[in-house]
Amino acid sequence: MLQIITTKAEMQQIATAIKVQGKTLGFVPTMGALHNGHLNLIARSIEENDITVCSIFVNPTQFNDPSDLERYPRPVEADVEKLQRAKCDYLFMPSVEEMYAKGETWHLDLGYLENILEGAFRPGHYQGVTQIVKKLFDIVQPTNAYFGQKDFQQVMVVKKMVELFNLPVNIIRCPTVREEEGLAMSSRNVHLSDSEHKLALKLSQTLTFIKNNRLTTGLSDVLNEAKTQLTSPPIVLEYLVIVDGATLNEITAWEQSKEPVALLAAKVGKTRLIDNMVL
Ligand code: PAJ
Repeated sequence: MLQIITTKAEMQQIATAIKVQGKTLGFVPTMGALHNGHLNLIARSIEENDITVCSIFVNPTQFNDPSDLERYPRPVEADVEKLQRAKCDYLFMPSVEEMYAKGETWHLDLGYLENILEGAFRPGHYQGVTQIVKKLFDIVQPTNAYFGQKDFQQVMVVKKMVELFNLPVNIIRCPTVREEEGLAMSSRNVHLSDSEHKLALKLSQTLTFIKNNRLTTGLSDVLNEAKTQLTSPPIVLEYLVIVDGATLNEITAWEQSKEPVALLAAKVGKTRLIDNMVL
């Protein structure tokens, strides 16, 4: 039976009791509007841990665009039902007041990770992400925490934070779950009109194009051709890069990386989407 917890104190007490019993605790932090990408993380956690906690918290400090925060979907009842069906043990769903004191500040030196790609296009975003994930980890005390490859840079940032604080938690990266036609699942996909949704398929198609041509074509030729596939309105490309998956540094030749990854961000109409593919 899913138990819903709304206070830090109660969640922390439950987590401590689980840990004292020597049980493993798997944790899936989310902002809700749950889809199969989230549910896949939960299934993995259930498989690998004695107890699974999911959190739903639309974290205001990680939104650099106020209108994005305002229109972020919050279908609480449907989410609870999905978690029940998934056999998740606990849902931690605190209020903003429960998680943040007034006037609270936070800064963590994330180095160059903060200034590139999502960090560059969403100033302050990773400060907000690390601020909330640190709080959640302190409360939930997970043995293992599950994150999606969909947010490739986020996984690196969270790993960096775990290293900086020496936190006793394993960060586990899980594959991106896609809709049948290839679009990466995202809570923001509900904002897409039917025609935008169709056009958004170009994002994953372009990543697949890069992957398919990797063995036969030079990197800069593939990248230039790929960029031309994402120039038609209402798609506005913010970035499309090929990087070394271990560092996120851009590479100029395929041989420069053992795990090359193509990463992109684009607006489709008003909706900002990101996607990536290991090549
Ligand atoms: P949210 O966007 O709700 O995503 C929660 C988790 O689900 C993240 O680890 C994300 O990478 C993963 N996820 C989202 N879509 C996915 C997909 N299509 N396939 C696989 N995994 C997917 O990411 C956040 O929330 C927040 O930044 C959070 C970490 C909760 C901090 O507030």
